Amino acid sequence: MVIAPATANTLSKMAMGRCDNLLLATYLSADCPVFFAPAMDLDMYQHPSTSQNIDTLIRFGNIEISATSGELASGLSGMGRMSEPETICETVARYFDQSTLLEGKKILVNAGPTYEKIDPVRFIGNYSSGKMGVAIANTLSRLGASVELVLGPTSSHNLSPNITLTHVESAEQMYDACSRIFPSCDAAILAAAVADFKPAQYTDQKIKKGTADEMQLILTRTKDILATLGKLKKPNQILAGFALETTDELKHAKQKLNTKNLDFIVLNSMNDPEAGFGKDTNKVTILEKNGEIHQYSAKSKLEVSQDITQLLLRYL
Ligand code: CTP
Repeated sequence: MVIAPATANTLSKMAMGRCDNLLLATYLSADCPVFFAPAMDLDMYQHPSTSQNIDTLIRFGNIEISATSGELASGLSGMGRMSEPETICETVARYFDQSTLLEGKKILVNAGPTYEKIDPVRFIGNYSSGKMGVAIANTLSRLGASVELVLGPTSSHNLSPNITLTHVESAEQMYDACSRIFPSCDAAILAAAVADFKPAQYTDQKIKKGTADEMQLILTRTKDILATLGKLKKPNQILAGFALETTDELKHAKQKLNTKNLDFIVLNSMNDPEAGFGKDTNKVTILEKNGEIHQYSAKSKLEVSQDITQLLLRYL
């Protein structure tokens, strides 16, 4: 909301909270940022009560677009001329322009599934599409962050051109890329669906079925990337992860938040029809290490990425 011109009379009513006309009623109930552009004659502008009222309005959180010096309506010349309309528009536009909010911040994001090779034609994978992590990377990039995206094997995505992309296939490659990039980052959000196990042995020729009725595959544990970064994390680095659960969702997410040393964790439950792999929507709950819990309604993955980014902004 922009109040211009804010005359001496309007300023004093705003500062005193006196609500006796439509403008002031609108001002007092406004829950958006309020800008005011003072405009009055020289003597009024210089009066101490005007400076006091301006100070009071600034203290209330309103934003002053200062008067300038020049020709005044009375014919006098001096301080009190309303800032030019172009300047008022530019000031408001600059305030709402978020494209530089994360300028100078380097943020690691991982996304997508991993494929664990069994032989040259088979692998163990999962249904992750990478959409959530890619939406986060794009949103961070739009806010001016320098984004490093480590992406598992997925179909193509529309990526913001400033994102530095590292393609990986296996959990081990994702581990190597993330642990190489993380030390130079201000924050990391790990959204990838990393395989927890991989075949103990890779067979370099196609495994033939022969006459066997069954086959056993021995799997070994992969490294936990998020937990590793949690151990590497310096006090000025922010680390966030995801938790995908089907039972006791909050309990499991809290456990992961603590054991992996995270600042916050984004929980999605496979029991929510709007959440899950491949969907364009998600429904999340975010748990912070200070115990705060934020529940969000079902939204597009882009909107969810904006909620996550807003929280990250508080930490950064
Ligand atoms: N994660 C990871 N490396 C792994 C496994 C998981 O970095 N080897 C990360 C995921 O990217 C996610 C978080 O850990 O940010 C939680 O993943 P999730 O699959 O929900 O849980 P797990 O830790 O794998 O535990 P479980 O499978 O027992 O639920």
